[in-house]
Amino acid sequence: MPAALQPFSSSRVRDMPDNQIVTVADMARHDDSVVRLWIGEGDLATPAPIRDAAIAALEAGDTRYGYSQGTPGLRQALSDYHRRHWDVEVAPERFCVSIGGMNAVVMAMQAILDEGDEVIMPSPAWPNAKQVVAICGGVNVAVAFEFHTDGAITLDLDTLFAAVTERTRALFINSPSNPTGWRMPLADMRRLRDFCRKRGLWIVADEVYNHFVYDGQGPAPSFLQLCDDTDRLLVTNTFSKNWCMTGWRAGWVVCPSGMETLFARLCQYNTTGVAPFVQRACQVALETGDDFIVHQIARCQASRDILVQGLEALDNVTIFTPQGTFYLFFKVHGLPGTSLERAVQLLRDTKVGVAPGSAFGPEGEDYLRICFAIDPALAEEALARLVPYLRTLPAVAAAAR
Ligand SMILES: Cc1ncc(COP(=O)(O)O)c(C=O)c1O
Repeated sequence: MPAALQPFSSSRVRDMPDNQIVTVADMARHDDSVVRLWIGEGDLATPAPIRDAAIAALEAGDTRYGYSQGTPGLRQALSDYHRRHWDVEVAPERFCVSIGGMNAVVMAMQAILDEGDEVIMPSPAWPNAKQVVAICGGVNVAVAFEFHTDGAITLDLDTLFAAVTERTRALFINSPSNPTGWRMPLADMRRLRDFCRKRGLWIVADEVYNHFVYDGQGPAPSFLQLCDDTDRLLVTNTFSKNWCMTGWRAGWVVCPSGMETLFARLCQYNTTGVAPFVQRACQVALETGDDFIVHQIARCQASRDILVQGLEALDNVTIFTPQGTFYLFFKVHGLPGTSLERAVQLLRDTKVGVAPGSAFGPEGEDYLRICFAIDPALAEEALARLVPYLRTLPAVAAAAR
């Protein structure tokens, strides 16, 4: 921004950093020889019944303003979907349809934050959530995950609770977590709920990856199963990941009973709602798309297993086998520089595009992230490029990894 304009921009947005995943992707976006594992999205097309529903709705003239918080049909389908997968009753009125999971988090934070309120976030974390807190006038408080040399990632709840101050308003929990693949154990979810109840804190639960759990252990539990409808709980979710709809920009927030009107207003004044023909397609995704989710998870599991087996055989790589999501977080020993420089080096030398860990905060600096929502054949190809290259780097003793 020109210096002359700087004093006039909002102090909340002036210092927003660039998204480092985009920084790497922009270096080779148009190079078809690159295996692109940087962005977090599946590589399949949106299923045909979903696409067809949007086309039919467009042709039927469903192109005008509608209910800004979501059509009654879609909100009913969301309620049915939660009953089917998590065995919970969530009244249709508690759902607010949003422009993707992104706008769901925006509305959640707008609903609860006053200037200077703190939001505690296990980190490394999805960068957009942090920036939303800042845009809403809040303050991010990062609590670092613990990375263990045996490849486990844990979150110490006592450390999380110790970060709470009188300014704390909410804990933002993204489980399964982007970028680490960590999943919050059920017992910890209960402890967190009890703690937040006692202290009057909000839980903002970003559950966009809750189907992406492997070895037959999914779906991940939802805070909706543990809380009642008057708890201070906001759950955010998206159509993007389950049904390969990242470009459609549709998601949802679940709010407590009694906050529906506030959320309807937030929808109205933020975006005036999601396009009605997109909402029609989303309803079809919920009503007919369970098999597609199963298909995607099987594919992700196959790709995850290929990458985990290939990389864990190397003695200069530490991998953290993901318990959920479709991301593999790993550390390459012997590559010099920052994680951004390492990602750029891998791109240049192997033509594999990965995300730098620093994109997810300073707690991710040592690491790299791969998205494995890809064809297993592409996972093999990525390994065929990475493994010979990584073998040329100096080996590291197990204890030093
Ligand atoms: C943790 C997390 N939450 C929310 C989102 C938002 O998804 P979208 O806005 O594409 O629906 C993402 C996207 O990558 C994510 O990783």
